[in-house]
Amino acid sequence: MSTVELVVAQDAADAARRVAELLAAAASRGGDLALSGGSTPRPAYELAAELEPDWSAADVWLGDDRLVPPDDERSNLRLVREHLTDRLRGAPRLHAIETSLPAEDAAAAYDAALEGVVLSLALQGLGGDGHTASLFPNAPALESTARAVAAEPGLDPRVDRVTMTLPVLCAAEEVVFLVTGADKADAVRRAFAEPPSPATPASLVRSRDGRTLAILDPAAASLLPST
Ligand code: 6PG
Repeated sequence: MSTVELVVAQDAADAARRVAELLAAAASRGGDLALSGGSTPRPAYELAAELEPDWSAADVWLGDDRLVPPDDERSNLRLVREHLTDRLRGAPRLHAIETSLPAEDAAAAYDAALEGVVLSLALQGLGGDGHTASLFPNAPALESTARAVAAEPGLDPRVDRVTMTLPVLCAAEEVVFLVTGADKADAVRRAFAEPPSPATPASLVRSRDGRTLAILDPAAASLLPST
């Protein structure tokens, strides 16, 4: 398992810019990119669309999604459309999770769609409890060898989720975490400066053969041991 390159940006905007540059470069190379939900990556998506308006060579996947209609404000598909793909001149192939299906069926369909796909870049968020995608602390999904599984509802009690699993994420050529804010500082410490543990799922997501980057703002990095 590779180590993590920690990048402490000047501030949250600088962190977003660095991620946007990575996304834009990956999109113009034309690989399979997995994107995360959450509020943190929105500025990075918008800037990536400005930097590279032609994503027609790329395939975009969702690392996870909630099983809500595509226009629901909790939908990661909606997030990615609004902040990224709707802003592009050249649209990528956007691989949505079938959120109208029961969770097990939606997961099986996404698993099948992902067969043979090696992600060139997996963008990851980090929850305050150490989750990433919809891989929650000590969840059975962490043990799965499937490419995508139904996830526990997690922080949204009534909303089922589907998530990519560790085998797919760790096979990515590049794993990039984007984490900002003091409320994430302890999770950052556990994910990037402690031994890997299922109690902190993000600590298990590392590119097996490529590189893993954690792009942080100073607040998120504030509890990391100084080097
Ligand atoms: C989602 C993702 C989740 C997210 C983190 C961080 O919410 O769709 O599943 O893993 O990336 O919870 O979210 P914030 O960026 O909103 O803090």
